[in-house]
Amino acid sequence: MKKYCILTYGCQMNVHESEKLAGILENFGYERETNPQISDVVVFNTCAIRESAEQKIMGNIGELKQAKRNNKEMVIAVCGCMTQQDNYPEMLKAKFPFIDIIMGSHNIADFGELLQKYLNSRKKIIEVGAPQDILKRDSMPKIRTSGINAWINISYGCNNYCTYCIVPYVRGRETSRPREDILKEVCECVNAGYKQITLLGQNVNSYGNDNREKFGTFAELLRDIDKIEGKFRIRFMTSHPKDLSEEVIDVIASSNKICHYLHLPIQSGSDRILKLMNRSYNREKYLNLIKLARERISGVEFSSDIIVGFPTETEEDFLETLSVVKEVGYQQLFTYIYSKRKGTVAEKLDGQVPLSVKKDRIARLIKLEQELATEISSKYIGRTEEVLIEDVHPKKQGIVIGSLDCGKTVNIKGDPSLVGSFQRVKITNAKLTVLYGEIV
Ligand code: SAH
Ligand code: SF4
Ligand code: F3S
Repeated sequence: MKKYCILTYGCQMNVHESEKLAGILENFGYERETNPQISDVVVFNTCAIRESAEQKIMGNIGELKQAKRNNKEMVIAVCGCMTQQDNYPEMLKAKFPFIDIIMGSHNIADFGELLQKYLNSRKKIIEVGAPQDILKRDSMPKIRTSGINAWINISYGCNNYCTYCIVPYVRGRETSRPREDILKEVCECVNAGYKQITLLGQNVNSYGNDNREKFGTFAELLRDIDKIEGKFRIRFMTSHPKDLSEEVIDVIASSNKICHYLHLPIQSGSDRILKLMNRSYNREKYLNLIKLARERISGVEFSSDIIVGFPTETEEDFLETLSVVKEVGYQQLFTYIYSKRKGTVAEKLDGQVPLSVKKDRIARLIKLEQELATEISSKYIGRTEEVLIEDVHPKKQGIVIGSLDCGKTVNIKGDPSLVGSFQRVKITNAKLTVLYGEIV
């Protein structure tokens, strides 16, 4: 059987889009393979969020040069956010003449047709179009790959134009998916046995903004999903703090399916930098949201994204970020060094921060995060919690990995047959962000 390999970079959106690309490839009769070197079709589903991501992808594409030379029949396709940028298709074509298909982030629903066209003609294809029918991708077949987890899009694109971010340029305007379609897909996933449904959107809280009458609000959508019968968990990402409503907080609080966990990226603790980032909230408003969520949602935990070294960020600005991290006590942090992106507003700002300063700041932030982590995790020791067993441990035999409702990860002694089940687990130990426990 002929083999395909998809290499996925970037966010969960891309992970899920790769599941759709896999659906097309399996309909063609290809079989999944993890090693690109021995595959007949290799797809790079790319990300453009930071320069480091692009460098890694280009390195990985380069590694296929020899394999393609040895096997002329091999098909190499590159798609996703990187290819959607101005001049990138031409640049990729010049740098890697052995790429066969270049497709933009808006064209993935056409991948089957493009692949067929290429196989018939063996002529290189570049297709980087404007978004035509963005919702067409919802009807693509999907090969879900994340075990008991199912990803479901609720919206595409982003209208926020945070000044550092490339996403609105490569993913287009925010487009909501009809509520009935989402509900139908959730039902299908629950009936198929998925235990954890994650709703995906760049900003889930603005779901329906494009047509309030037709789509309703995110709170209404959550309420409807919560009513679906079955034992399963609902998660979602990402929540933009500027649009997180009291109503959404209350729906989470009163539900026993929606996880008591919010990924609520703050990006910076300095009001001056938040303004320059065009985030539309300040530190005080953000902290008030955290306070409200803590008052209403029992045991809620938070995670966040933080960028260090945004243009003009001073030591004082950075100290504000450290202090907000201490104040909130996040259960998990995703920390990034600011990376200049072509075409964004921040690219043109004076006062770019030297790399050595950025590196120093991220190291201090990670150090603080680690100092806080064990303390935050330790409060769970001795508690008995409901845990969803998600997977076997990738390295340790006889250990399975589960998650608490609040998103915390726990390592437990147990065999693979437990995967997909809910268990009562007593937490016995904590190291950094990971908990250790025993099934009771
Ligand atoms: N829509 C989501 C984030 C998507 S991108 C949200 O608004 O939260 C994921 C994260 O990458 C962002 O939260 C941000 O922290 C980081 N990021 C985006 N652009 C970046 C850049 N130019 N440099 C460094 N980090 C960036
Ligand atoms: Fe980027 Fe901001 Fe949109 Fe998130 S909300 S995708 S950070 S522009
Ligand atoms: Fe990257 Fe595109 Fe996601 S730029 S983070 S893959 S939306």
